[in-house]
Amino acid sequence: MRQSSLVVVANRLPLDDNAARDGACEWRRSPGGLASALRSILEQTPATWVGWGGGIGPARQLPDVGPLRLRPVALTADELQGYYEGFANSTLWPLYHDAVEPPVFDRGWWETYRAVNRRFAEAAAESAEPGAAVWVQDYHLQLVPQLLRELRPDLLIGFFLHVPFPPPELFMQLPRRTELLRGMLGADLVGFQRPQAAHNVAQLAAKLLGTQGADDAILLDGRVVRTGAFPVSIDVPEMTALAAQPSVRSHAHQLRQDLGPHKRVVLSVDRLDYTKGIEHRLTAYSELLRDGRIKVRDVVMVQVAVPSRERVENYRGLRDRIEREVGRINGEYGRVGEPAIHYLNQPFDRADLAALYQTADVMVVTPLRDGMNLVAKEYVAARAEDTGALVLSEFAGAAAELEDAFQVNPHDVDGLKETLLRALDADPADLARRMHAMREHITEHDIHAWAGDYLTSLDHSGGLARVLPRPKEALARPS
Ligand code: ADP
Ligand code: G6P
Repeated sequence: MRQSSLVVVANRLPLDDNAARDGACEWRRSPGGLASALRSILEQTPATWVGWGGGIGPARQLPDVGPLRLRPVALTADELQGYYEGFANSTLWPLYHDAVEPPVFDRGWWETYRAVNRRFAEAAAESAEPGAAVWVQDYHLQLVPQLLRELRPDLLIGFFLHVPFPPPELFMQLPRRTELLRGMLGADLVGFQRPQAAHNVAQLAAKLLGTQGADDAILLDGRVVRTGAFPVSIDVPEMTALAAQPSVRSHAHQLRQDLGPHKRVVLSVDRLDYTKGIEHRLTAYSELLRDGRIKVRDVVMVQVAVPSRERVENYRGLRDRIEREVGRINGEYGRVGEPAIHYLNQPFDRADLAALYQTADVMVVTPLRDGMNLVAKEYVAARAEDTGALVLSEFAGAAAELEDAFQVNPHDVDGLKETLLRALDADPADLARRMHAMREHITEHDIHAWAGDYLTSLDHSGGLARVLPRPKEALARPS
C-alpha cells in the first residue's frame, strides 16, 4: 500500500463512477461544492484522496490523477441506503439546514453510519505515512476523526464541515448527539464555514461532554481541540480564465441570441435540493409575471437544476413539484417559441457553466440555508467586466463575504420580488461598483487561500500548505 504525507477523506471522490452502460467504466466530475473546491487544490498535489466512487459493490482500482492518488471505498446497497441516503442525507442534512424538511430519525441507520465511518477511517489509516496529516471532510464522516485517532495516534487530524452546524436546540434533537460530537472532536482542528458554528459547538461540548473552553479551543480528555471559521471558496483564476476563453465567449453570445438578444436573462444554478429555495424563487418569479411587473417579451429565466440524491424520497417529491410548477408557469405565461422559464435538469461541464454565467444579467442564488454556496462566487469570478447583478440569500454562508450582493430573505416572497426588480433595474454604475468589490474579495479569499489558511492552522508550520500548488501553477494547467 502506497502511503502519503497528506490524506484527504471525503465521502465522494472527485470523479463519479458512472459505470451503468454496458459494464464500461466512465468517469465524470462529481457535482457539488465540496468536490469542486477540493479538486482545484488537490489535482496538482502529491496526496491521497480516500472516498466513494458513486457505485455499489466492489470498488474499482482507479488511476492516479497526476500526483493525486485515489483510494476508493466500496459501499454495499444496504450501506448506501443506511449511511448515505439514510443517516447522512435524511437525518443530518435536513437537521443541519435548519430542518427546512423534517429530519428522519431511523434507529436502523446509526449502526451502518458507524460501520461505514470505520471503513473510511481504516482506509485513511492505511494510506497515511507515519506522522502524516489527514483531513476529513463533511457530515458524512463525522465519526472518522475519533476512530482514526484510536487507530493511529501519530497522525495530525483535521476535520472540515462544509455545511452549517446547527444551533444547539436543533442538534440536541439528535438521538446520537453525544457520539457525533465526540467523533468530530477527535480532530486536532475542526473547521467551519462561519464563526457561529464554532460557538455552537463550544456550547454543546460544555453541555454534553462537560468540557471547558472557548469558541476557538475546547479541552477534551486532556487534549486541546482547536476550532475556527475558514470560509471555503473557488478557484478564481480558473473560472476567470475559462470565462475569458474565446470559445466560451462565443457560446455565451450564441446563448444570448437563442434566449432573445434584447431580453434580460435571469439565471439560477443549483443542485436539485430543497435547501436551495427553488420553489420560493419560482413563486416570486411567477407572481411578477402574473402582476405584469415583468413581461415574457422582456425577461427570460433559466433554471439549471442538476439531479441530486434521486433515491431519497424528499428529493423525488421536490423534483415533481418543481417540474409541475415550471410547466404551469410556462403554460400560463409563455408564448409560442418563447417560454417564461428554461428548465435544465442536467449536468454541465465547467465551460458551459462559465458561458451561462456570462449570459446572465441577474444571477439569483436564494437558498433557505447553505453552508457557503460556491455558485454565487463562480458567477462573480466569471464577470470580469464588472457587469451583472447577484441576488443572494442572507442564509448562504457566502452572504457574510459578498456584502455588495442584493441580499434577500428568501422566505419573504414579497421581499424577493422587490429585490429581483431592483436588480433588474439597477444602474450599471452601481452594478459595476458592487461587482468589482465582490471580485476583489474573492480574488483575495480564493480556494488557495482557504486551503493554505486551514492547513497552516493545522500544522502551525506552513509545511503542509507548501505542498499545495501555488495559484499561478493552477492557472497554467489545462482547463
Ligand atoms: P452544493 O455544494 O450544495 O451543491 P455549491 O453552490 O456550493 O452547492 O456548489 C455547487 C457546485 O456544483 C458548483 O461548483 C457548481 O459549479 C457545480 N454545479 C452546479 N450545477 C451544476 C450542473 N448543472 N452541472 C455541473 N456542475 C454543477
Ligand atoms: C454538498 C455537501 C457535499 C456533497 C455535495 C453533493 O456540497 O456538503 O459533501 O458532496 O453537496 O452532494 P452528493 O450527495 O451528491 O455528494
